[in-house]
Amino acid sequence: MMDHASIDAKARDILRGNDRGGYTLPTEGLYPYQWNWDSAFAAIGFAQFDVDRAWTEIETLMSGQWPNGMVPHILFHVPDPGYFPGPDVWGTDGIGPIASSGISQPPVAATAARAIIEKAPDQGRDRLAALFPKLKAWHSWFMTWRNAGGAIFITHPWEGGRDNAPDWDAAMAAIDPVGVGEYTRRDTSHVDPSMRPTKDDYDRYIWLVQRGRRLGWDEAEMAKDMPFKVADPLTTFVLLRANRDLAAIADLLGEDRAEIDRWTAEIETGVEALRNAQGVFDSINLRSGLHTGCVTSSSFLCWYAGVDSDAMRAELAQTFESCPYPIPSQKVESEHFDAKRYWRGPTWGIVNAMIARGLSEMGLTDEASRLTRQTRTLMVENGFAEYYNPLTGAPAGGGTFTWTAAVWLAWASPTAGEA
Ligand code: SER
Repeated sequence: MMDHASIDAKARDILRGNDRGGYTLPTEGLYPYQWNWDSAFAAIGFAQFDVDRAWTEIETLMSGQWPNGMVPHILFHVPDPGYFPGPDVWGTDGIGPIASSGISQPPVAATAARAIIEKAPDQGRDRLAALFPKLKAWHSWFMTWRNAGGAIFITHPWEGGRDNAPDWDAAMAAIDPVGVGEYTRRDTSHVDPSMRPTKDDYDRYIWLVQRGRRLGWDEAEMAKDMPFKVADPLTTFVLLRANRDLAAIADLLGEDRAEIDRWTAEIETGVEALRNAQGVFDSINLRSGLHTGCVTSSSFLCWYAGVDSDAMRAELAQTFESCPYPIPSQKVESEHFDAKRYWRGPTWGIVNAMIARGLSEMGLTDEASRLTRQTRTLMVENGFAEYYNPLTGAPAGGGTFTWTAAVWLAWASPTAGEA
């Protein structure tokens, strides 16, 4: 078995190898552009050994911000025919400063910015000050356009970052992707199709993109009779935490934090709506008003957002028993569980990193240590994969993956500060 120092070196090599000069690819081939939340994790990884490069990652991401405050989920810096759907399909020309998608992604960047400044408080205060209004404008965009009483909703499965999570099944089934036309997927030429979303999923993904394009990506227009509108625990918990981090940044910079605190209070109220009848945090299809009944790895992000739950503690104990490589993106006992298929079962390093951080901060230190140890083993034995089979630990999806290497450096490695 490799020693941890050489695994640290390998992780740094992955970040350097995926670096395209100012931004980092999630992995070459499958994802040849800058992805929003991937970049925030990349920055957290870079902060462990190159603080200057960490700031640059966030700056490049925020340089793609739209005039309305939205920060796109993909920035198409350099055209690459190996990815679909590219800029020609999204049709956002002239809206933002950089060719991009038309939807956002879970807002981890403020949390990353706080992690970088805490790592090196004497470097980058001016850079943080320049980023602060942009981060605030992005959070404001969420509160304006993705806010259902403080529960944060997504308008496309890609916006939640968990493309084919079972949480979206009912909302997706209600869409008839009429007129979507012919297209050629590229993802399945890079990765085993059994590890990727289905064609039924893709037809609807593309249909939703075509709708946004037809409406000129105008949020007010898109909000009318929105075909896909699901309140999402992951996005809600991530924004809640990021808001608190943004308020801490405001304090550091001597900026006013009152508006940010109001958002935090509003989301704290919204979180309560996400508890289902069993007390578990669960998405809500806002078109039907129904909870989806899914216990996903996102449900366990409550502690990361400073929210405790007896029901989630019980679920966590059960998950540790039922699964050798937790936390599965879908509960193993669920009829929807599919060990290899992207967000329908596999374990993801970045989600584990956030869950463990929350557990540790909320005083659940035994659980936090257990999850850290198990994830460390997973990565030592199986490399820095995009995700892992929770039953066997087998790597799945893309390889040499930026955000997995990043959370190794920042958290799972024995040399990481928090481990
Ligand atoms: N994750 C999506 C993809 O597979 C888009 O964000 O391309």
